[in-house]
Amino acid sequence: MRLAGKTLVLCVTGGIAAYKAADLVSKLRHAGAEVRVLMTESATQFISPITFETLSGYRAVVDTFDRHFAWEVEHISLAKAADVFVIAPATANVIAKAAHGIADDMVTTTLLATKAPVVIAPAMNTGMYDNPVTQQNLQTLRARGFHIIDPTEGLLACGDTGRGKLPDTPVIINGIEKALTPQDLRGQCVLVTAGPTQEAMDPVRFLSNHSTGKMGYAVAARAAMRGAAVTLISGPTALDTPAGVRRVDVTSACEMYEAVMAHAPEQDMIVKAAAVGDYRPAETAAEKLKKREGELTVALTRNPDILAALGQCKRAGQLLCGFAMETENLLENASDKLRRKNCDMLVANSLRDEGAGFGTDTNIATLLFADGRRETLSIMHKEALADTILDRLLAMRQGRE
Ligand code: CTP
Repeated sequence: MRLAGKTLVLCVTGGIAAYKAADLVSKLRHAGAEVRVLMTESATQFISPITFETLSGYRAVVDTFDRHFAWEVEHISLAKAADVFVIAPATANVIAKAAHGIADDMVTTTLLATKAPVVIAPAMNTGMYDNPVTQQNLQTLRARGFHIIDPTEGLLACGDTGRGKLPDTPVIINGIEKALTPQDLRGQCVLVTAGPTQEAMDPVRFLSNHSTGKMGYAVAARAAMRGAAVTLISGPTALDTPAGVRRVDVTSACEMYEAVMAHAPEQDMIVKAAAVGDYRPAETAAEKLKKREGELTVALTRNPDILAALGQCKRAGQLLCGFAMETENLLENASDKLRRKNCDMLVANSLRDEGAGFGTDTNIATLLFADGRRETLSIMHKEALADTILDRLLAMRQGRE
């Protein structure tokens, strides 16, 4: 979460979804942001300013004719203080005013004065949202660099079903973070693999490993946040799909191989964080294996090495990043893998290090590069490591252009 210490101006306008803005303020404050709330007069018909004052710790500012504060200064000072300016929920009316530069209340005057990135989350009746005039206004705002968070579809408060619902708070927070994040990966196609694979022995049992998918999901989430078109090919995990990521679910190494090979050609960067099973049972029993007297021996057969296959068919300019988790001889084994699998970069980590490995939120890695460079990183959150990996790949890409 990169909202800590940021100042957010949140404008609440008059729609039934205004009540959801209270949860938004609460979650933003938990994330460490300062939130200053502005309300239109009609928003106060749906929710009291006191709710926002209690949650934000600041006076909620309603309109320019309020005599209890110096509004002339306030709307300019808030416009300047904002790191990001958010309108949620945004009515068709405020969208129309924003598109045409109308400034006739506290929200629209402050909006016109701000130089901060603006995030707009429309919420309204489907007919109003689908109306060509609203769509055209949104298009105008998009073209002007406003960040529009699309409403979701569903049953609306008015009884209609369709587009127009304010998305859930995490989706809006993600959109706000994105507006604050440099889009340095825009135009890049990034494929990430994550999680374990499961190799079926029979309909109820499988061979697998302890991977939780956290590292790969962090890479996918950060790449999407930085503007890349991200495909995440995931083994079974308990994690939610990161916002803006196209996720393809697979179970076995063979399925992962097929999915990766199908998506690989159009990718600019491939990050193979998945813990792929090297072996699978030579046969998968059609029925549950029953126990018998004595020992059971299961014959295993080799799975395809996906990373090595990608290394073989890598197209010019495509960057390949592998992972190596080792329990001994970390750097020797990792540099051997980097070379054997024709990677551009390899992220090596040791299962023996405290703060690294399966299921942890942190990792301790050494980055190895095809040109022999090595970079030893200290313990860091998996999200921060994900950013570092993407930074290095981007630098390599820019170096080749
Ligand atoms: N990998 C893969 N396909 C496999 C095995 C591994 O794509 N069948 C990828 C992993 O996603 C990872 C890298 O190869 O990016 C290294 O995985 P690892 O299991 O450490 O390497 P192996 O080649 O399996 O080597 P070993 O088991 O001998 O350590």
